[in-house]
Amino acid sequence: MTTQSNKLTLTEFPSYRPLLEHYERVKNLHMRRLFSVDSKRVDKFSIEHQDLLLDYSKNRITKETVALLCQLAKEAKLEEWRERMFNGEAINNTEGRSVLHTALRNRSNTPVMVNGKDVMPQINTTIDKVESFSDKVRSGEWKGYTGKVITDIVNIGIGGSDLGPKMVYQALEPFRHERLKVHFVSNVDGAHIDATLKQLDPETSLFIVSSKTFTTQETLTNAHNARKWFLKTALDEMHISKHFVAVSTNSEAVANFGIDTRNMFEFWNWVGGRYSLWSAIGLSVVLAIGMDHFKSMLEGAHSMDEHFRETPLEENMPVIMGMLGIWYNNFFDAESHGILPYDDYLRSLPLYLEQADMESNGKSVDRDGRKVDYATGPIIWGTSGINGQHAFYQALHQGTKLIPADFIISMLTHSEHQEQHNIMFSNALAQTEALMRGRNLDETYADIMASEKVPRDVEQRIHHMVFDGNHPTNTLLIRKLTPHSLGMLIALYEHKIFVQGIVWNLNSFDQWGVELGKQLAKKILEDINAPQATNSHDSSTNTLINYYRDIIQHKE
Ligand code: F6P
Repeated sequence: MTTQSNKLTLTEFPSYRPLLEHYERVKNLHMRRLFSVDSKRVDKFSIEHQDLLLDYSKNRITKETVALLCQLAKEAKLEEWRERMFNGEAINNTEGRSVLHTALRNRSNTPVMVNGKDVMPQINTTIDKVESFSDKVRSGEWKGYTGKVITDIVNIGIGGSDLGPKMVYQALEPFRHERLKVHFVSNVDGAHIDATLKQLDPETSLFIVSSKTFTTQETLTNAHNARKWFLKTALDEMHISKHFVAVSTNSEAVANFGIDTRNMFEFWNWVGGRYSLWSAIGLSVVLAIGMDHFKSMLEGAHSMDEHFRETPLEENMPVIMGMLGIWYNNFFDAESHGILPYDDYLRSLPLYLEQADMESNGKSVDRDGRKVDYATGPIIWGTSGINGQHAFYQALHQGTKLIPADFIISMLTHSEHQEQHNIMFSNALAQTEALMRGRNLDETYADIMASEKVPRDVEQRIHHMVFDGNHPTNTLLIRKLTPHSLGMLIALYEHKIFVQGIVWNLNSFDQWGVELGKQLAKKILEDINAPQATNSHDSSTNTLINYYRDIIQHKE
């Protein structure tokens, strides 16, 4: 069966042993030396695709490393699996689903078959429906129940129904409609929805309840709360249709909630939640930036899809980034990977990629349910790079952990302050240079001696001021952050995650690991609301529940 495992696991692939031996030979090579012996290193280790330039020369690799890693990818049958995904085979084997976020941005419109049926017509119909609705809201034709135009949109959703749209909404701020402000409510802590509702006028607010399953407790709780708040002023349920729409795969649950399914924007089970921003889940984004810009984002992603599908592995951006991740994760035993954007509009990218990557590849059984005996998905973390410099970069430079990181830098700013951008750009490159080169004892000594105030205790201090360097980074330059380049960037990471999932023989498209907590939370909520204290859990959980019950019952 095509969706079954590769049979061989990572450590059994023919190139695994040669890679291990190669690792032993190169693990102590310093990148500073690799640069000094090869003035053309960056030409060998960089890839350009339209507005994106990936410089991966500041990695602990040689040409042989790349060749061996690409060989490993071949042995894992990456190219075959890639085709299976694009062709709509049910590669999400534990849920029996195709994985077709790529079809959502298939701007060539060539047929994509699922169970013998072309899915492109339904995708195009939904795009048209989203476009016509958003045009009406944007132009002011769509009015609230008292005849006023919509000014505020609230996306109520969580996880993939929140992080993607929120990140893109922030990233494309310069492209937004002037009148329309989008708010995102995800946290079930009532403080989140309260803080949002406080800013709103029910007559001019539009709520989008975004949930693939339409069963997510956090989202439905917030949506009911918003509905109640709205009806407090609007009074009549007939007004709901002008102020509440839904994005979901579950029309029955949408109708049960009280949203007219004519106001529902559909997507399908073959779109994973964390891969859904290209679907109607992007409705809030379309409302903010308009369909033309949204389509430009789809086109950017589509161009990355084509690059991924057609470019030889050794020149293929997502493949190279994915295989470098394998190199550090499985040979250098790196446990995490930093995402460091140098563009303020991309400040939520690390959060978005945490879900995209860790919910996909944070798994310890392979696609056939066998326990793996190798490390899989790393911990993904990060923040806006320039802020990170003043927070955690100390540990990147001088800590004991190896933390490979991506520096994602835009070159042309949307602001009027290109000279401020120069400061940011110089900081980003200073970091990657310092992480790569470090500063040895002699250089440190020379720097100290050249400084205006030479400290008396040089001998004691100097060891604290030495940088070992040899910390790997990728530099991704984006010409300018636009819908098109953002689409490319996001698709690049999606495919990087795919590449790694294939090499680790994982199903990157299910998320069973989130289920147990949801199940237990239901039981605990019942215990909190029960007349008697609970003793049905372990002593720690019982004590904490009962302590909480006591506090909320005697609030005053
Ligand atoms: O709990 C995790 C998860 O299932 C994610 O995979 C998903 O993106 C999120 O919850 C939200 O789910 P839904 O869109 O169905 O509300």
